[in-house]
Amino acid sequence: MKRISEIERKYVLEVLDNAFATSLNSVFNNALEKKFAEVFKSKYAIGHVNGTATMHTALAALGVKPGDEVIVPPLTMSSTALSVLHNGSIPVFADVDKNTFNISADGIRKVITSKTKAIITVSLYGLSPDYDEILKICKEYDIRLIEDNAECVLGKYKGKYVGEFGDFSSYSFQASKHLTTGEGGMLTTLNETYADRARKFSCLGYAGVSASKGKITRNDIQDPNYDRHVSLGFNYRMSELQAAVALGQLEKVGELVEQRIKVAKLFDKAILGCDFLRRQSEPEGYLNSYWSYSMILKTEKPEVDWYRFKELFRKNGGDGYYAAWKLSYFEPLFQNEIQKMDGVWQQYEKGLCPNSEYLQPRMMQLKTNYWDLSEAEQQAEILHKTIINF
Ligand SMILES: Cc1ncc(COP(=O)(O)O)c(C=O)c1O
Repeated sequence: MKRISEIERKYVLEVLDNAFATSLNSVFNNALEKKFAEVFKSKYAIGHVNGTATMHTALAALGVKPGDEVIVPPLTMSSTALSVLHNGSIPVFADVDKNTFNISADGIRKVITSKTKAIITVSLYGLSPDYDEILKICKEYDIRLIEDNAECVLGKYKGKYVGEFGDFSSYSFQASKHLTTGEGGMLTTLNETYADRARKFSCLGYAGVSASKGKITRNDIQDPNYDRHVSLGFNYRMSELQAAVALGQLEKVGELVEQRIKVAKLFDKAILGCDFLRRQSEPEGYLNSYWSYSMILKTEKPEVDWYRFKELFRKNGGDGYYAAWKLSYFEPLFQNEIQKMDGVWQQYEKGLCPNSEYLQPRMMQLKTNYWDLSEAEQQAEILHKTIINF
């Protein structure tokens, strides 16, 4: 299959042929948001420039204030924690589960304080965290939940789509993601008040936009007495070109996700019986949407073997594999600057999140975006051969 096909081309050309005249009504933005909300079983979808801005908007729309604490996992792309900082709030790191690699209820309970206002969960590599337990905590402590689903599209947890659990769900359309527009993002919610605030925040605080209305109308601005700004906002709007591509992508979202699942199943076969590679587990009732195929290396010297196995894999013709990001709190920004920020009470030192610290240096991620399945079959064979040679 082709990742980008005729339909995206057609929609983009429509925007260009109209010389952006449609931007006035945001034809593609409206069509995308409507369909996105339908597919992801939500009510409101609000297009954004990327999947980091989405989380900043969500925090602001939920009323999380500077100085408030927001719980996040450290084992993820750091945008999750960065969005908290963009909001002037304090990221508090909760440890992950050793098997699913996802933020755990136990980890969250250990770091709740009277200042905790929200949790941002991440569905790492396409797999859901344990929402039954996490929602119990949210209820018990009256904490809002934002799902960072940048890496999870149409994954499932106990019969529901990932994205149906949070007050907001955030998606990224960055180049490597399931649905892509090069850069882009989407925020969904069932709550009209939140959606209205999110829209205004992401549109410079415009008075004339609302939950389902992304543009101010010509009539509004043809009035010298028009009050344009009612609150402070950012310009996080999605362009109509991005929306045109995203709509084309969304129309074949099932196929795009299915392809990645097929690739993952090939890797499953390739590592079957191997005693030194353990894949991210997929508990009963979970459906992984496999943005990436993640495993850990279980050898005595992972710090050496990680590189040795990769070299052998590449030598055999493999595409290689990705490392997990450094834990957010070990990044220089957090070590050198955030650690000294007022309100940061965690010590960004070894032992802060032991499971995350165990996993990160051992993790290997194989890409799943092969659009020609025979290429993925070849990679799976090479992986199998490398396991035997190692
Ligand atoms: C888990 C996670 N959250 C957030 C982001 C940020 O998305 P974006 O690059 O669209 O800002 C990414 C990836 O890019 C991600 O993997």
